[in-house]
Amino acid sequence: MFDSLKLHDLAQKQLGTLRRPSRIKPTLWVVQENGVRAVVKDFSTNGALLRNTAGRFVVWREKRAYQKLRGVRGVPEMYRVIDGLALVMEEVPGRNLRDLDEGMELTEPFFEALKGLIEECHRRGIAHCDLKRSPNILMGYDGLPYIVDWGASIAEKEFSFFPLSWIYRRFLLDDSMAIIKLKLRHLPQSVPEEARLQYSRRSIPERIIRAIRNGLQKFFKSIL
Ligand SMILES: Nc1ncnc2c1ncn2[C@@H]1O[C@H](COP(=O)(O)OP(=O)(O)OP(=O)(O)O)[C@@H](O)[C@H]1O
Ligand SMILES: [Mg+2]
Repeated sequence: MFDSLKLHDLAQKQLGTLRRPSRIKPTLWVVQENGVRAVVKDFSTNGALLRNTAGRFVVWREKRAYQKLRGVRGVPEMYRVIDGLALVMEEVPGRNLRDLDEGMELTEPFFEALKGLIEECHRRGIAHCDLKRSPNILMGYDGLPYIVDWGASIAEKEFSFFPLSWIYRRFLLDDSMAIIKLKLRHLPQSVPEEARLQYSRRSIPERIIRAIRNGLQKFFKSIL
């Protein structure tokens, strides 16, 4: 699928842009072939430094996660990667949770489905690690949850020995905690006091990874 798509064709062939590139973010194109629509996350439009470092790295990480998660309901299918720089994936018809109307209530069944989806990804040995960012979770027009943006994910296999295995377990927990964060915003009455307390204690690995990521973002912003 999308086998003939080339990087330099994207600007002409696209149906639209979900997002224009910034200094540190890739372009998100929508393309269509034989009636199938796809989203392309494309670092080829970024500056050479970002493109060839973080860009290639993120595409490689994300591709690996999508391969492991193939067939999980709620994870878009990955069609292909173009030249190591652009990831072509199934378009999820829906809206990301950041774009939902302020104060819009989500239902208990939605959260149950999200919990099941996260658990299934964990069973496949992948922790997302960035689920607390609401743009990474979508509500499909079918009312079901979908998860995108697997570039920061880690695989259980890479973290199988202590102390990495301990860090991995914290990441699994942090993924699950994202549900509490979302519930606090969209269904607060369903969050018991105990869960609120648990949520307010941020794990050390999460703080470390966030600090590293923020540092890298600042670094790229300063040199680009
Ligand atoms: N497969 C998809 N189907 C539909 N929409 C998508 C898809 N992938 C991404 N999007 C939309 O594009 C937005 C950004 O995608 P993504 O999070 O993968 O990019 P990003 O570069 O990590 O951006 P950010 O840093 O803002 O999270 C998502 O919040 C979602 O609204
Ligand atoms: Mg994202």
